[in-house]
Amino acid sequence: MTKLRLGLLFGGCSGEHEVSISSARAIAKALNTGENTNKYEILPFYIQKDGRWLAGDVPQQVLASGKPLSLPNSETSNQLVSASSHSLSRWQSPSQVGEVDVWFPILHGPNGEDGTIQGLLTLMQVPFVGSGVLGSALGMDKIAMKMVFAQAGLPQVKYKAVNRSQIWSNPCVFPKICDEIELSLGYPCFIKPANLGSSVGITKVRSRQELETALDNAASYDRRIIVEAGVVARELECAVLGNDQAKASIVGEITYKSDFYDYETKYTEGKADLVIPAAVPNAITQQIQEMALQAFAAVDAAGLARVDFFYVEATGEVLINEINTLPGFTATSMYPLLWQHSGVSFPELVDQLIQLAVERYSPVEVAESE
Ligand SMILES: Nc1ncnc2c1ncn2[C@@H]1O[C@H](COP(=O)(O)OP(=O)(O)O)[C@@H](O)[C@H]1O
Ligand SMILES: [Mg+2]
Repeated sequence: MTKLRLGLLFGGCSGEHEVSISSARAIAKALNTGENTNKYEILPFYIQKDGRWLAGDVPQQVLASGKPLSLPNSETSNQLVSASSHSLSRWQSPSQVGEVDVWFPILHGPNGEDGTIQGLLTLMQVPFVGSGVLGSALGMDKIAMKMVFAQAGLPQVKYKAVNRSQIWSNPCVFPKICDEIELSLGYPCFIKPANLGSSVGITKVRSRQELETALDNAASYDRRIIVEAGVVARELECAVLGNDQAKASIVGEITYKSDFYDYETKYTEGKADLVIPAAVPNAITQQIQEMALQAFAAVDAAGLARVDFFYVEATGEVLINEINTLPGFTATSMYPLLWQHSGVSFPELVDQLIQLAVERYSPVEVAESE
């Protein structure tokens, strides 16, 4: 049997570079397990923090060590020069790119799960795991995502979208925006950059002064900012797998002691626990599974997604929080654990995702010349 050459694309320019390396290590291990060994040959591609793609020995070393490649200082200064002059792009394509039969991009955050890489892979005309440009872009931008969810009739918290220019450049507009937020959403509310992940730049605010500072802070991360009414709720997550006939996993819960599920809680060992399955009534589990599939279809996701919910136990309400089209994929991440508890092992999951990528791919039809 000829093996499929799988381009494992990891690292990337986002703040989630290290998480991507952990996810890629777990996937590489799964590809070297059981039946997968006979089906796939791994071609690893590492995207450095400055955006440069590397093939060959370096990605193998990064996978083996689990540590990012450190860039010499001169590289960083060169990058700044090139960024300002637009004269020298960091992006170049290693020749091995042409050898890939199917891609597994395991990149989190901006430039990885926002449709940019997906656009490039689409242009390469090679199948790839996960959502395409539209699903990825809608899943990344919290404002666009919420608009699509609203259109699909999915219940969610009240929110308001704000632009950086409204916060920074107009001293007459800014107090009015704060007044509107206080009136329509009240305190506590959450201020979030629309296009980040891992809770970076997110603040929970309880007063006018905190609101003003948090808006200013969020604007330093993104042009687009979302403000949401805060809810007191349990946090439940559901994994989705498939293309047009996708399936929902059992439901898991994230528990923690901190004020909210912030960056430190997410990435410090022992600060948060995953409870699988979540101890909630069956009707809630079912409702979440249905909503997860609706959300998956609403943004046009494909392959995989993790859909996150707020369960307001006091009222019995379930609100959708967000969809993640490239969720964390380490051996201890919620997405693969939910499938493991639903009867799909990690190596099987990786295999199914690659098969789904191949199934979904439709080659470009070349127009006949007259
Ligand atoms: N409207 C809200 N009400 C209550 N908690 C919230 C709200 N929005 C976010 N949070 C808290 O902040 C965390 C991160 O927010 P989220 O929108 O999921 O951002 P990210 O995409 O970075 O994960 C959530 O898991 C939750 O703990
Ligand atoms: Mg989240």
